[in-house]
Amino acid sequence: MAKPKIAILGTGYVGLVAAAIFAERGFAVLASSQDKEKVDLINHGQAPFYEKDLDAIVESAVRAGKLRAVVGRQEAILKSDIFFISVGTPSLMSGEADLRLVRETAAAIGEALREKDTYSLVVARSTIVPGTTRNVIIPLLEKHSGKKAGEHFGVCMSPEFLRQGAAVEDTRSPDSVVIGEFDTRSGDFLEEFCQQLYAGQNVPILRMNLESAEMVKYGRNTFLAMNISYINEMARIAETIPGVDIYEVVKGIGADWRINPAFLKAGCGYGGSCFPKDVKALISFARLQAVQPQLLETVEVVNEQQAIHIVEIAKQEMGGTLKRKRIALLGLSFKPDTDDMREAPAIKVANHLYAQEANIVAYDPKAGPNARKRFIRDTIKISYADSVEECLKDADCCILLTEWEEFRKMKPEVFNRCMKKSVIVDGRRIWDEEFRKKVAAYRGIGLGTDKVHTS
Ligand code: UGA
Repeated sequence: MAKPKIAILGTGYVGLVAAAIFAERGFAVLASSQDKEKVDLINHGQAPFYEKDLDAIVESAVRAGKLRAVVGRQEAILKSDIFFISVGTPSLMSGEADLRLVRETAAAIGEALREKDTYSLVVARSTIVPGTTRNVIIPLLEKHSGKKAGEHFGVCMSPEFLRQGAAVEDTRSPDSVVIGEFDTRSGDFLEEFCQQLYAGQNVPILRMNLESAEMVKYGRNTFLAMNISYINEMARIAETIPGVDIYEVVKGIGADWRINPAFLKAGCGYGGSCFPKDVKALISFARLQAVQPQLLETVEVVNEQQAIHIVEIAKQEMGGTLKRKRIALLGLSFKPDTDDMREAPAIKVANHLYAQEANIVAYDPKAGPNARKRFIRDTIKISYADSVEECLKDADCCILLTEWEEFRKMKPEVFNRCMKKSVIVDGRRIWDEEFRKKVAAYRGIGLGTDKVHTS
């Protein structure tokens, strides 16, 4: 098969990173967005959001003429052979995924398909609950095109597994590709594209039906979220036992070949645009199917509590009250190497601190602007520092929320010099024993204290 031309509908993390990497590998890619500003930025070789290494790839792909962004969907579809639906599916109040953009995009593809006389392939890549491709997307495609799936066009569902902050690396070398297919012809078409895309890389391709592929995405994300809540609960237990360190315990747990320790890092909880939303969506889907998702409900509860727990640790160290205490927050984004504030534990932490009348000062290497926007919405008052030292100046307590490299490298002397008293609450366990010994007080998630309850 000649190299197919690709349309990517949606230029968020999933869409734009895929567009850039497909273009880097020599495919002609049209990236469609409804937002003119975004389109202009991309065509000037810039990603509209921060993602490690992405700007450089977008720039060279645009310069090489392989990647172009367009406003609207029509042109992208008419000029391409495979169309990826990569639009967002945010949570509705009910927890269900909002399919508005998926519906709009499917209808627009249908309209364009009316004018196409060659067989082409629609690939759903957005996170959607089982049944959505068959029961929502395909009927819209058929209705708006007047054509039949399987006859005039193919349909696949292929979930995306990239992590923000490592999106480029994950898209260049995925651990696997899951292809959910409407029929064999659709699956063959997508598999052939993947083989061209990952030539020489030995990426396993797993083929299954549409619904199973949709469920794989929720399966992976909720399993990982469950790992995190599990280890955070274990960390809470460990904290009550003097001398126990959950990070040491995980080395032992993970030595069992059946357990992968990669997502067993205790911390201040999971955030981001995926785990919180996907856990909620699967809970809500399960209830609609008359299944009580008890485990998933608990995963969510434990995660909510973890952010509050870290504030409670700070409160203990402040002698039982946070009122008028100057609390320095290091890190705001939901994880390092991104400026993304969506569902970041920092939001819950700051709200909880504010409710207890603490004075909050925060510093994040990248997320400052997004945090400002977010906290204005919550109407909570935060001072933003332009550097770590400015943030720590005269602080009573420092809470580390995001494990940016810049923070990992910090020496205890900086805390001792800048803070009123160097009381540290390490929400990501980035500082070692040497460091701990040199500050006035150190509390870490999952690190046993001497405040033990024995009865
Ligand atoms: C997650 C998945 O890891 C990706 O595979 C998936 O494609 C993506 O969601 C998605 O559905 O689009 P992402 O949200 O970018 O990726 O970030 P992760 O690295 O998974 O981290 C999520 C949250 O969990 C972060 O707040 C992180 O700090 C937290 N986390 C992660 C822990 O607290 N402990 C861990 O051991 C691992």
